[in-house]
Amino acid sequence: MAQANPSPGKVPEEARKRAEELRRLIEHHNYRYYVLDSPEITDAEYDRLFRELEELEKRYPELRTPTSPTQKVGAPPAEKFEPVRHSLPMLSLSNAMDEREFLEFDERVRKMLRISGPVDYVAEPKLDGVAVELVYLRGELVVGSTRGDGITGENVTNNIKTIRSVPLRLRPAADLPERLEVRGEVILGREAFRKLNEERARTGEPLFANPRNAAAGSLRQLDPRITAQRPLDIFCHSPGLIEGGPKLESQWEFLEAIRRWGLKTNPLNRRCRGAEPVLRYHAEMERKREELPYDVDGIVVKVDRFDLQRRLGEISRSPRWAIAYKFKAHQGITRIVDIVPSVGRTGVVTPVAQLEPVQVGGVTISSASLHNMDEIERKDIRIGDTVIVERAGDVIPQVARVLVEKRTGKEKKFRMPETCPVCGAPVVREPGEAAYRCLGASCPAQLRERIRHFASKRAMDIDGLGEKLVSQLVETGLVRDVADLYTLRKEDLVRLERMADKSAQNLLDAIARSKRPTLARFIHALGIPQVGEHMAEVLAEHFGSVERLADASEEELLSIHGVGPETAKEIRAFFSAPQNRALLRKLRERGVVPQAEAPRAKAGRLAGKTFVITGTLSIPREKAIELIEREGGRVTSSVSKNTDYVLVGTDPGSKLEKARKLGIPTIDEAEWRRLLGEKA
Ligand code: IVH
Repeated sequence: MAQANPSPGKVPEEARKRAEELRRLIEHHNYRYYVLDSPEITDAEYDRLFRELEELEKRYPELRTPTSPTQKVGAPPAEKFEPVRHSLPMLSLSNAMDEREFLEFDERVRKMLRISGPVDYVAEPKLDGVAVELVYLRGELVVGSTRGDGITGENVTNNIKTIRSVPLRLRPAADLPERLEVRGEVILGREAFRKLNEERARTGEPLFANPRNAAAGSLRQLDPRITAQRPLDIFCHSPGLIEGGPKLESQWEFLEAIRRWGLKTNPLNRRCRGAEPVLRYHAEMERKREELPYDVDGIVVKVDRFDLQRRLGEISRSPRWAIAYKFKAHQGITRIVDIVPSVGRTGVVTPVAQLEPVQVGGVTISSASLHNMDEIERKDIRIGDTVIVERAGDVIPQVARVLVEKRTGKEKKFRMPETCPVCGAPVVREPGEAAYRCLGASCPAQLRERIRHFASKRAMDIDGLGEKLVSQLVETGLVRDVADLYTLRKEDLVRLERMADKSAQNLLDAIARSKRPTLARFIHALGIPQVGEHMAEVLAEHFGSVERLADASEEELLSIHGVGPETAKEIRAFFSAPQNRALLRKLRERGVVPQAEAPRAKAGRLAGKTFVITGTLSIPREKAIELIEREGGRVTSSVSKNTDYVLVGTDPGSKLEKARKLGIPTIDEAEWRRLLGEKA
């Protein structure tokens, strides 16, 4: 008779032993198959082992451990994902778009490290997937989380557990760390993606735009059993916090160690001595790109030695010791059906090509910015032309070139309209500029775009302010500037077309929630020309408040690393305009108060002091910068009246003269050491 009832409490020792033996065997074969890609047994033999374990666990449920290979089929659905704070922030990478930018990176690295010869790098494929962190305690997987904002992610442990190539237990080894945090990329192969979309098309579900989105959607499934059906894969690529275990000195040693411990790393990773081999690796991977079973959008180049990585440090959430060196954009061929002028938030009128929809690298493209008239003339783009389109950095579609041989003679040249297609105000080309601008001070198109930008995810993050709604708010006159969002009332909203009570309330809640943005997001949201997300972070960190930024002189702006003359000018122009000052006041009065991020060290002996360094010191310059910053000070690259001290080493440059001219105190290294609080 079949055993209907499991018999609790009475697990024969033999069954217990066999279960553990089966687990080790299955884990071993998983490792051979998923990590080493060299299986030792057939699928049928593997299935036999697996079924035997399943049956044993069914008969004796006490034998079922949370890390048993049978637990990969998916836990019951969750209601939501809990937040998980990463022990160490998950950084992002800055990009090099071409060889020159990569060589500049190499140059920077060697300069900062004062290395004249080649630096050892590790080059890895840059997988286009979803970043996750795995936490193993004494070899057992305890948490798997998404990157989130880099500080806090979502707990998707039960979903991650379903990924075949993620071991629930690491391989037994004498040198396993007590705590091992590993970051990696969860991906869905191109073939699996195609099948998944085919299936969804059949069942009438919306299609995923590309494998990355499909992987992200699968990982954020509340029902792990659905995730389990998607053949997700992982490649582990970087360390988080590691406690105990061997002393790992480099990225390469790290990759070798985690592979030994059972984690999947990319076999295409390569150690390169200096920039030359990296360039060759890049070319090789770009050639191989289409043959790989998964999407890769470039390579990641990392300084190999950890001590050098530490010396290089990081800047605004990206390490200085690594870079993403992108591949050339994906291309496709299509036809320009029309060219239409589009008015942006700063009034710039951009010609946009309307295309016959075309698939480029898994994404459908139906329009592409032509940037400005100069571009159109330079590339001789006409309405009706057959063109090659590409996704630059794989995001924004571009027209790369015209296939002139396909011309029929019916193509038409585009002419910029003399008046704004939206508000009718004159459109003029400013002298010396490529751009045409709509002069309408209250042009609804500009306002619309400003609001859309203000509310966007990476700015104030106001959910629910879609394109249609923003148009309605502008057309009805309910919103004349972004500050008006904060006085919207429910009774105004429900009068709008297609606005139910509930969605009106949701929108008001989302607006209310946006009143405490970080300073960086707020600065980004203002939409100052030239000030994107990254620049906003730099400015927020430097100034600590909008008021200080608004009052900054062009000279002080220019002294900030990364701020060029054009950006400084735009920032000055923005804050000099009375209507922008009024807008800031209005926002403040309506309760929008940006929160300054806690500066690294407000306290400290050098708090609030700005230094400029010139000449050679007895220690590497980046070390000196670190010491100053650790004490709450700041280091800028050029001398201005806002500089407190110029630290002078041997062979000082023109900065010393400038300091003398401006009467800025100059100090030598010994004096500086005293300021740092070191004893002579
Ligand atoms: S290293 C600070 N290695 O690219 C080190 N990242 O913009 C950052 N990525 O979020 C991660 N392949 O998820 C690293 N071989 C690789 C990678 C890789 C893809 C992703 C990663 C990160 C993003 C960086």
